[in-house]
Amino acid sequence: MMVNVSNAHLMEGDSMKHPLALAVVLLASLFPRTGLAASPTGKQGIKKKSFGTLPDGTPVDLYTVTNSQGIEIRATNYGGIVVSLRVPDKKGNLDDIALGFDDLKGYLANTPYFGAIIGRYGNRIANGKFTLDGKEYSLAKNNGPNSIHGGLNGFNKVVWHAEQFQTSAGVGLILTYTSKDGEEGYPGNLKTKVTYTLTDKNEWIIDYEAVTDKATPVNLTEHTYFNLAGEGTSDVLRHEMQLKASRFTPVDQKLIPTGELRAVKGTPLDFTQSTAIGARIDSDYEQLRLGHGYDHNFVVDAAAKNSDPVLAARVKDPTSGRVLEVYTTQPGIQFYTGNFLDGTITGKKGHVYKQHYGFCLETQHFPDSPNHPEFPTTILKPGQTYQSRTIYKMSVE
Ligand code: BGC
Repeated sequence: MMVNVSNAHLMEGDSMKHPLALAVVLLASLFPRTGLAASPTGKQGIKKKSFGTLPDGTPVDLYTVTNSQGIEIRATNYGGIVVSLRVPDKKGNLDDIALGFDDLKGYLANTPYFGAIIGRYGNRIANGKFTLDGKEYSLAKNNGPNSIHGGLNGFNKVVWHAEQFQTSAGVGLILTYTSKDGEEGYPGNLKTKVTYTLTDKNEWIIDYEAVTDKATPVNLTEHTYFNLAGEGTSDVLRHEMQLKASRFTPVDQKLIPTGELRAVKGTPLDFTQSTAIGARIDSDYEQLRLGHGYDHNFVVDAAAKNSDPVLAARVKDPTSGRVLEVYTTQPGIQFYTGNFLDGTITGKKGHVYKQHYGFCLETQHFPDSPNHPEFPTTILKPGQTYQSRTIYKMSVE
């Protein structure tokens, strides 16, 4: 976790004073020009409309964010869910590369966290318990004996306050939510701010910030299921992926890290050279059997030393030519191949989502860190600011 003791700008919510604007411009200049084939539309902007209401009558909105290159992100303030991500292929054809539902009803029914912000703690906490400053805390067990993705009513199921912004650095949304002391069993009032910025360099930048009034674990991430060939069209097994990670955190039968940092070398988890996702997914390797495929936290090699994200992953779909790069300041990345999708979910346009129809690259701290003092700490203390940045950069080849 990157911790910055100054929290003066947090929750300011004024887009004109947005502290990220300069950083975004600087970052953008670091990356080469995109190879995207779509012709620029010049229609950079953001539009808001209703996305329906929750059963208790709370209104929910849908924001459509577009950049001048023709990329479009639609996001709702319910769970901060990215509902769709329309990106050109090498011929310039736009397709939606994010799994999800056509309407709010789908997200309220049964969703495996499609597109959502995950918090207060991404991934599993063993037995839904941790001890902090001598006190034991109990969380809801919503994954066998474990707590996963923040509990029964995680950040994916709350309505965030949303404010739109448009600057020379990009267009997007500032989402804020205060998680109350004791919510889902976690200590402290946690003020959280997640900013989505779509730049003209075809980057979807996610900035996370949080402050607390009591020490608490925090591990925020984003749970989009990508399919670079277009959602619902096929599995992702022919996508080729490179992970800049020479170690991963092996898990036990309940998918809790054992504490070991194991070298990927010589295992089917070695993606240090670009390899088809499906090439070894059925290998007779204990970790793949336990995960029913890939469902592992990889240790990002080039740990970010400051606030500049480092390249952690690069995925290419050879047919469409679409490329997704993931840059992050986080020490870990959960690579999940939609193993639990089993054809029982019908998503957008009647598409049935079968096993491996999407992949997730969730940038994060390691799962179950509160019970692993040897892992980088996820404890945020009063006076500190949790800050992290992830960039999903889209291009074609
Ligand atoms: C986890 C998977 C889980 C999925 C949906 C991923 O982050 O690693 O085990 O099935 O989220 O909950």
